[in-house]
Amino acid sequence: YRDIYSRIPVLPPDRTWPDRRITAAPLWVPVDLRDGNQALAEPMDPERKRRFFELMVAIGYKEIEVGYPSASQTDFDFVRLLATTDLVPSDVTVVVFTPARPDLIARTIESIQGIRGQVVVHMYAATAPTWRDVVLRRSRDELAAMIQAGAEQVLRLGGESVRFQFSPEVFNLTEPDYILELADQVTKVWDASAERPVILNLPATVEAATPNVYADQIEYMHQNLPRRDGVILSVHPHNDRGTGIACAELAVLAGAQRVEGCIFGNGERTGNVDIATLALNLHAQGVDPMIDFSDIDGIRETVEYCTRMPIHPRHPYVGELVYTAFSGTHQDAIRKGLAVQGDGLWEVPYLPIDPADVGRGYEAVVRVNSQSGKGGIAHVLETSYGVQLSPSQQVEFARHVQRRTDSTGREATAAELKTLYDEVYRSN
Ligand code: KIV
Ligand code: ZN
Repeated sequence: YRDIYSRIPVLPPDRTWPDRRITAAPLWVPVDLRDGNQALAEPMDPERKRRFFELMVAIGYKEIEVGYPSASQTDFDFVRLLATTDLVPSDVTVVVFTPARPDLIARTIESIQGIRGQVVVHMYAATAPTWRDVVLRRSRDELAAMIQAGAEQVLRLGGESVRFQFSPEVFNLTEPDYILELADQVTKVWDASAERPVILNLPATVEAATPNVYADQIEYMHQNLPRRDGVILSVHPHNDRGTGIACAELAVLAGAQRVEGCIFGNGERTGNVDIATLALNLHAQGVDPMIDFSDIDGIRETVEYCTRMPIHPRHPYVGELVYTAFSGTHQDAIRKGLAVQGDGLWEVPYLPIDPADVGRGYEAVVRVNSQSGKGGIAHVLETSYGVQLSPSQQVEFARHVQRRTDSTGREATAAELKTLYDEVYRSN
């Protein structure tokens, strides 16, 4: 893929821009088995959890949040399954989620006993004023003491092999000085260093502002965190305002190194940020996303099976219709673009990436209904049946097709176009 920015004209023309761009993929951490799962009407059963986990390993995730073992027996048992089988490859880190409560931390640590390889214990506590005052009924200091005790307990019970992640839930509505205080506290408990960093995950638990605000908050943390070398700065956007993707991209530009999300944006309410879209946005800009989406329909099938939720036909990169044009002008441009395509640089109008990159064919790129034009109709007949229409036939046959599709109000399949073609031309 071409450097996309070089194709975007700027004013004034001598300006160099953008001043920042994403040049490498962050560490992606799927939370489908926890945040995604807890939002499902029918949470995944053990077989679905396992299939989902295997899918995530297969496409290349290296750190995977696998559940909330203190919340349900299913989650606890799933972590036990991982601990007692060889389902976790040696280069994959498993993350388990827990509230900062002593009984629940103990249960979480119990679930990971004997697990191979790296484990992250992800402890969270809601830190924003409304949650402190209304939900937890704890002062800043009382909550800080609870978080300190939790961090100490995980270290004590988990031992040296465990790594620590802390999420101040509702970070985006929490006072920045309080976040810095808590970060200082937990990194001290864990004696965080570049060799043994603590993951500080900063969620926009419920999106509340425009994405630049979240990015500014992340940038502030990036610049002011104590023991910065001992912290992996992670973000966890949700999508309540529909801007989760923008939040994650701007947060990476602002210094985030790790991004938590769900594969096609499942998750609480309007979802977690959609990692597939983030990753394929990078791909479209020539940056290796480090996750393999070359069989996106296979991935989609498994995700739909496990979540029991269909993917929208217009969902970026994966929706059924996102590489399809019905309108005549788009079809004509795509057809001409495909004809001159060849040197590996993808530059076909109206198609942001080559559908083949995600395992799609070209048959669905042009589909015909009453909005379509002669070029698109000729394209379908040619690619599906090898039928070449002369320029005058193209004009004439398009009129027949238009009459037919206007009267049915439906799409005409390639087979229906061929039947109509036979009716019009073979009978003469
Ligand atoms: O959205 C959120 O805040 C979370 C956790 C990281 C607490 O899912
Ligand atoms: Zn979340």
